[in-house]
Amino acid sequence: MIEIKNVTKSFGGTRAVSDCSLSLAGLKIAGLIGPNGSGKTTLFNLITGLIRPDCGEITLQGQRIDGRMPHQLAGLGLIRTFQLSRVFPRLTVMDNMLLAPQGQTGERLWSLLFRFPQVRKEEAEHWEKACELLDILGILHLQEQSAGTLSYGQQKLLELGRAVMAEPQMILLDEPTAGINPRLIQTMIDMILKMRARGQSFFIIEHNMDVVVELCERIFVLDHGEKIAAGSPREIQNDPRVIEAYLG
Ligand SMILES: Nc1ncnc2c1ncn2[C@@H]1O[C@H](COP(=O)(O)OP(=O)(O)OP(=O)(O)O)[C@@H](O)[C@H]1O
Ligand SMILES: [Mg+2]
Repeated sequence: MIEIKNVTKSFGGTRAVSDCSLSLAGLKIAGLIGPNGSGKTTLFNLITGLIRPDCGEITLQGQRIDGRMPHQLAGLGLIRTFQLSRVFPRLTVMDNMLLAPQGQTGERLWSLLFRFPQVRKEEAEHWEKACELLDILGILHLQEQSAGTLSYGQQKLLELGRAVMAEPQMILLDEPTAGINPRLIQTMIDMILKMRARGQSFFIIEHNMDVVVELCERIFVLDHGEKIAAGSPREIQNDPRVIEAYLG
């Protein structure tokens, strides 16, 4: 799985991530928390290839991945969602789902447009899976609507559905429940737990501690770019350094 060793990333004078090491080996759902600006999204950007570390190593199943391009990492099975939802607003909900598998956006777009017979069987399977996931997410009835007409929370559920469609080794979720209503938060949690039961692994940035505690086996805490704690939800909640980081 993912191992991060002594990774540092600075922007100008700011050390956004500072000599950070952590291992996700053996974890099905790991959490990443920390105050605003503590480097969480930057760490995700480093893992998913949007930016390169200044130094340190990131490996996936023992293979160096730092410095690779995001699409290469998607091909290796690392898929992420963004802090602010990113779906294709003009495409229908269903087409958003069908464009997701394996990150082969170009090929899938091609087959969606021209419906080659040889891809129909594969398409039918993807269609079935998309229906199943949209049903779990409670947005199956919206499948023919443009994604841009969905509420913000529904768009975030759709984004999660798209990530799951690709069956990646690891899904990284950047604040999946931020800005969505409590009912959809529960849907989001249920979806993540269902996918976990099917063997899907997650690494989740989340500010809502109830969500973190309900989902995560192990939590890593960043403060000013440094990992200040790692442990079970209970250990983290009682850790004086963590309490200080949030209060200070
Ligand atoms: N592209 C960038 N250029 C310059 N500074 C950046 C850039 N990205 C992040 N930073 C800085 O790095 C630090 C860490 O930011 P980051 O977005 O990783 O924090 P975060 O923990 O995700 O915060 P939040 O909880 O608010 O989402 C901040 O000081 C931020 O201003
Ligand atoms: Mg962030």
